[in-house]
Amino acid sequence: MAGPRVACALPFTLRMTVTFLGSKGGTGTTTMAVNVAAELRRQTSASTVLADLKPPPGDVALFLGVRPRVTVSHLLAGAGVRDAGQITDALLPHTCGVDVLAASDEWGQPAPRDADGVEFILHTLAATHRFVIVDAGATLNPAAITALQTSDLVVIVANPDVPCLRNLRRLVDAVRLSGVSGDRLRVLLNRISDDGAVTRAQIEAVLDMTIDWSVPSDYRAVAGAVISGAPLRALRVSDVARHLESVARAIIADAQGGVGRSWTTVAPSADSGASQ
Ligand SMILES: Nc1ncnc2c1ncn2[C@@H]1O[C@H](COP(=O)(O)OP(=O)(O)OP(=O)(O)O)[C@@H](O)[C@H]1O
Ligand SMILES: [Mg+2]
Repeated sequence: MAGPRVACALPFTLRMTVTFLGSKGGTGTTTMAVNVAAELRRQTSASTVLADLKPPPGDVALFLGVRPRVTVSHLLAGAGVRDAGQITDALLPHTCGVDVLAASDEWGQPAPRDADGVEFILHTLAATHRFVIVDAGATLNPAAITALQTSDLVVIVANPDVPCLRNLRRLVDAVRLSGVSGDRLRVLLNRISDDGAVTRAQIEAVLDMTIDWSVPSDYRAVAGAVISGAPLRALRVSDVARHLESVARAIIADAQGGVGRSWTTVAPSADSGASQ
């Protein structure tokens, strides 16, 4: 992947699970999850896995140009997943250093009955990788709720349009009701417009909430990355890539500040040695 590695010392015990949830379909949840995962890996060199838990069609594998043979559907099929080795074998390494667990390819999956299987998958990934990034799609289904409850940080992705912002307020309330405390919740406004039709300050005032991060609109850069099957930063340093670099930096700072992984204690030897 292009660009220098940024040396960033992470305490060895520091681990974090971050779930990206869209306030509506098409807000850029996958784009944000893919590129933040790639940035976390680039900035820290720590083992990073990106799990696509969105009901089909999930796009993470497509965005990173990897072809899955085993998906979340295979892991959840039959009596369900109980073997950590099956999960590790299903991971696809991308050249940017991020491992990918591809989305289910069967409609209706993950189903409500799969919540335990999803929890097992996430705990297994948390034992083998220091950053677990989840693309949960834009529906609060049982798999997404399990991911939220297993996460140290939840990032809700919204766009600055009226239907999306109306859903955002409702979704934040629903996510809090599912057990995610305010200090674990972040709001990312994607595709902010240059024309300033609606400003960030106006949105914050109307919704009475803080927008933690905003990312500009740059369709050319984002579409180019998808066509190349690579993270944005691998192509050229665009404004959108720079903003996502800052988002990743803020997540690392959160982790260093103690937001990370208090819910699980993992011995350092459980980490995948090759990628730290
Ligand atoms: N910052 C951005 N600037 C320009 N285009 C963007 C940006 N972010 C995302 N897009 C484009 O918006 C579209 C939707 O993005 P993406 O697939 O990431 O959204 P999503 O929320 O994951 O969608 P879905 O609900 O289908 O899973 C894509 O065409 C993507 O290239
Ligand atoms: Mg998506």
